[in-house]
Amino acid sequence: MEHALNDEFRKFFSKDADHIFFCPGRVNLIGEHIDYNGGKVMPCAISLGTFLAIAENKDQNLRFRCLNFPGTADIPLQARYSKAGKEWFNYPLGVFNEMSKAGQEVPGLDMLFYGNLPIGAGLSSSASIEVLTAFALRTLFDFRLSKPEMALLCKRVENFFIGVNSGIMDQFAVAMGKKDKAILLDCDTLDYQYLPFETTGYTLAIINSNKQRSLAESKYNERFAECGAALNLLKKEVDAENLCDIDMHTFQSHRHLINDPVLEKRALHVVSENFRVHEAKDALEADQLHTFGKLMYASHQSLKDLYEVSGKELDTIVDFCKTYPGCIGARMTGAGFGGCAIALVKKEQFDDFAAKLTACYNERIGYKPEVFASEIGDGVRELKELRVKNYEL
Ligand code: GLA
Repeated sequence: MEHALNDEFRKFFSKDADHIFFCPGRVNLIGEHIDYNGGKVMPCAISLGTFLAIAENKDQNLRFRCLNFPGTADIPLQARYSKAGKEWFNYPLGVFNEMSKAGQEVPGLDMLFYGNLPIGAGLSSSASIEVLTAFALRTLFDFRLSKPEMALLCKRVENFFIGVNSGIMDQFAVAMGKKDKAILLDCDTLDYQYLPFETTGYTLAIINSNKQRSLAESKYNERFAECGAALNLLKKEVDAENLCDIDMHTFQSHRHLINDPVLEKRALHVVSENFRVHEAKDALEADQLHTFGKLMYASHQSLKDLYEVSGKELDTIVDFCKTYPGCIGARMTGAGFGGCAIALVKKEQFDDFAAKLTACYNERIGYKPEVFASEIGDGVRELKELRVKNYEL
C-alpha cells in the first residue's frame, strides 16, 4: 500500500507541500549517561523517524499539524515563543524560538508532521522532530548553520525550552548519522569519527519494553545534578572540567572525597562507562563483535546497579538475552526508566529470539514488548519525492 504525506497535507491545508524532510531516531550502542559528563558515546541513526511536509503561507502564522497527535496550533509570528503545557508542538516551536533568538527570520509556514518512531520510547523522538524542523528551516531559508551547530541549537531547545538537561548525543546522532556506521562522538569537543558497524551474521535488535517512562524527565535531571555534585567534590583535589576527564586510576585514589555513597556510585558508572567506550571502539576496529557484546552487558549492569536508571522491564529483557545462545550482547539504550533495549542476535535466530523473548517478557511483566530488526541509516535529509512510499499512516 502506498500513502502520501502530501495527500494528507492537502487535506489539512488545501494545497500541496513544497518540500518533505525526514529525520531519523537513534540508538546508542554504548556510552550511556556520559554525554553530559563530557564523555564519548557511540550512537547511530536508525531507519524509523519523523517526516515533515511544509509550505510557506502568506498570513504570518506558524501552523502545526500532526498525524500522530490531535493537538494543533496556529501561532502568529513573534520574536519569542513560549512553551504550551506538554503539547507535542513545543519541540518544533522551541526550534523557531531558538532560530529567532539567533536572528534567523522566517515567514508564515504550514507544517504537517508524522512520525513512525515509537514516541517516548528512548529512540529520540524529540531530537528527531527538533532536528527535522531546524534542518527544514536551514534548507528553505539558506541559514548558515553547520549540522553540528544545528544539533547544538536543538540541544538548547531541549535544555531551555523543554527543560531537560540532556546532552548533545541525540541531536548530533540524528543530524550526522551515516548508513552502516556508528558515530564515535566526543561530547566535550564535538570531535567525531565514523566507525564501521558491520555486524556480519548478526542483527541489531531493538526491543521496546512498552513501559511508560513516567518520571523520566525529573529522574534524568536528578542524575545530571548528582554528577555535578560528585564532580565538585572531586575537584577539591582533582583537576577536571568534566567527570569523564577523570580516568579510573585517578578516580580510585580520590573517590573518598565523595563522602556520599549514592554520588560515588553515579561517578563510578560515568568513569567506567567512558572507559568501556574506548574498549568498544577497539573491539569494533579489530572486528571483535563478541568482545563488543560483552561490553554491552557490562554497560547494562553498571546502569542497573550504579546509575539506577534501568528497571524490572529492561532487566527482564537483558536477563533473557544472557540466556539465549544466539545473543552475544544486550543493554538498555537511551535515558532508561523504561524505553528500549538493544541486542546483537544471530541473523538466522532472530525470529525465534523475538518469539521467545516476547513470551518470556509477557509472562513476567504482563504485557508484550515490541521486537524489531533495525537498520542503521543516514541522518536528516530532504526527500526529493513528495510521495513517500511505505510508511504507515
Ligand atoms: C537521553 C538524552 C541524551 C543522553 C541519554 C543517556 O537520550 O537526551 O543526551 O544523556 O539520555 O545517555
